[in-house]
Amino acid sequence: MKILLLGSGGREHALAWKISQSENCSHLFIAPGNTGTALCGTNIDMKASDFEPLYTFVKNEQIDFIVCGPEDPLVEGVYDFFKERNIPVVGPSKAAAQLEGSKAFSKKFMQRHHIPTAAYLEVDATNIQEGITHIENTTGPYVLKADGLAAGKGVLIIANREEAKAALIEMIEQNKFGKASARVVIEEFLDGIEFSVFVLSDSRNYLILPNAKDYKRIGEGDTGLNTGGMGAISPVPFVDQNIMQQVEEKIIRPTIDGLQKDQLIYKGFIYFGLIKVGETIKVIEYNCRMGDPETEVVMPRIKNDIVDLFVAVNNESLKNKKILEDERACCTIVLASGGYPEEFEKGKKITGLEIQSLVFHAGIKKIDEDYVTNGGRVAMVSAYGKNIQEALQMANQTASTISFDGIYYRKDIGWEFE
Ligand code: AMP
Ligand code: GLY
Repeated sequence: MKILLLGSGGREHALAWKISQSENCSHLFIAPGNTGTALCGTNIDMKASDFEPLYTFVKNEQIDFIVCGPEDPLVEGVYDFFKERNIPVVGPSKAAAQLEGSKAFSKKFMQRHHIPTAAYLEVDATNIQEGITHIENTTGPYVLKADGLAAGKGVLIIANREEAKAALIEMIEQNKFGKASARVVIEEFLDGIEFSVFVLSDSRNYLILPNAKDYKRIGEGDTGLNTGGMGAISPVPFVDQNIMQQVEEKIIRPTIDGLQKDQLIYKGFIYFGLIKVGETIKVIEYNCRMGDPETEVVMPRIKNDIVDLFVAVNNESLKNKKILEDERACCTIVLASGGYPEEFEKGKKITGLEIQSLVFHAGIKKIDEDYVTNGGRVAMVSAYGKNIQEALQMANQTASTISFDGIYYRKDIGWEFE
């Protein structure tokens, strides 16, 4: 089978790495891909959101199906565009991708289907005063979420009441996050420990993939600015059978049933961002794709032929499949450019990349025979171990053999489980 993968990050390198191991994959193309995906297939110089040129390519190459890594093309309707042209896409329909594309939509969905989540108020220019009164009548911290996609930056958590009111006004009236914050969801603050569960859905049935936890803060001990993610571990030590049973009964099944009731076609990955508050698990967010860097620990822990699973998604026959989870733990450490997530320099020569097997490329460019840095998050170093501690030790060891000017990575990923 010929497969086209859309995207260009570490997540896509991990997906490409997994897809290219399948006997069922005769050729893998990646649009636009990166230096890592180039090691697993053929990169094509097209944007993941340029559907018309992609369609011409798909027709000419007789691609069997498409896998979409990032959220933007999904929210823009890549599934529907290719469905009309009889090309299956592993990913949700445009309507279903609203679970990530609109926080207000996902909150209403959860409310309608009785899925546990934080209480909330939806605010736009027409009821901004109600929003301000709400902040005045509640105690912080205040959670303000831009309704639309804001490249992972649209959530503000503010302790101070006056600052929260000012931020609400800035979001709605001064386009703090562009159009994405014309509508804002103000949420009850949930105090707990976060983890993520991933599901592959064929619109009727689903498979639960290995769970993971990512580390979003730049600094050790989970301090400092938020990033796209500085590391991840799988499995999450405290997520036992009881917790997974609660997650499946109260969250996953109601979500799949809710999608069916609402006639939202969902043939792809669902990312459940969860939080354990006391003994109760609640949904913080849905994403309509795999996580990055979570994919870099989840893919290595799936023993199945992933193409076989994707074909089952397309045929709606996932009920005949079972996930074969690797017993080993896996963790990943993100190597970042100095200064990230604020300003950083690019173009630093990277050494030590070639010899490593589970190193996934993200912000890297090849100039002649050299790899140079080309982004904030440069590479993800994944490693297995018999437990999280051993996997982390291995990943740290590998990370220490890779270098570039200004390299920064957290040495404390998984710190709370030591
Ligand atoms: P989101 O984009 O909705 O996942 O939010 C980004 C991050 O903000 C989450 O991973 C949480 O760490 C935090 N967050 C979001 N919503 C809440 C909430 N209601 N209470 C506490 N923290 C939250
Ligand atoms: N690691 C968080 C995300 O992919 O959204």
